[in-house]
Amino acid sequence: MKLIAAVDQNWAIGKGGDQLCYIPADLKRFQALTTGHPVILGRKTLATFPGGRPLKNRRNLVLSRDPAFAPEGAEVFRDLDSLRASAPEDSFVIGGASVYAALLDACDTAYITKLGRAWPGADAFFPNLDELPQWEVAEEAPPLEHEGLPFRYVTYRRRA
Ligand SMILES: NC(=O)c1ccc[n+]([C@@H]2O[C@H](COP(=O)([O-])OP(=O)(O)OC[C@H]3O[C@@H](n4cnc5c(N)ncnc54)[C@H](OP(=O)(O)O)[C@@H]3O)[C@@H](O)[C@H]2O)c1
Repeated sequence: MKLIAAVDQNWAIGKGGDQLCYIPADLKRFQALTTGHPVILGRKTLATFPGGRPLKNRRNLVLSRDPAFAPEGAEVFRDLDSLRASAPEDSFVIGGASVYAALLDACDTAYITKLGRAWPGADAFFPNLDELPQWEVAEEAPPLEHEGLPFRYVTYRRRA
């Protein structure tokens, strides 16, 4: 599996239940990388999508322990084991914090958008891959900018 996430300078990924920011170029890249692949997400991340609806043109594998939770167009899994039994190898883990933490060890590639500032009050975090010996930077794209916010795409790979 692979994962994709946008992190700030402290590896924060969210605040108050939402993303830290929305960068159009980053959203396009997210669409390009994940379209045609199953996406794996938590119930709270699904709630942040427009209308709380699953992403189009992708199987949406959603984790929730709530037996009554059955959003149209998504496949809901009540635990990690049943999800992992159904998730194809080409799936993308797309968040949030609890799902990244649970499935990091199942991933071999991490597409990280590094945002060049820190968000005070952020309350959802991704593990700092720069401090995990099993991960290394495979590719680092040139820096970009959106409305004064520097960002850059960094691809991490699990060491062999
Ligand atoms: N920057 C990024 O790239 C990025 C990407 C995605 C999300 N985010 C941010 O991350 C934050 C949300 O993260 P989060 O950790 O609070 O929520 P989350 O991971 O999106 O969803 C958590 C929910 O998923 C379900 N769940 C998680 N693990 C489960 C398991 N093992 N078995 C069954 N169900 C499980 C539970 O749903 P029930 O409560 O229904 O049981 C749990 O409450 C938001 O701020 C969001 O904007 C950021």
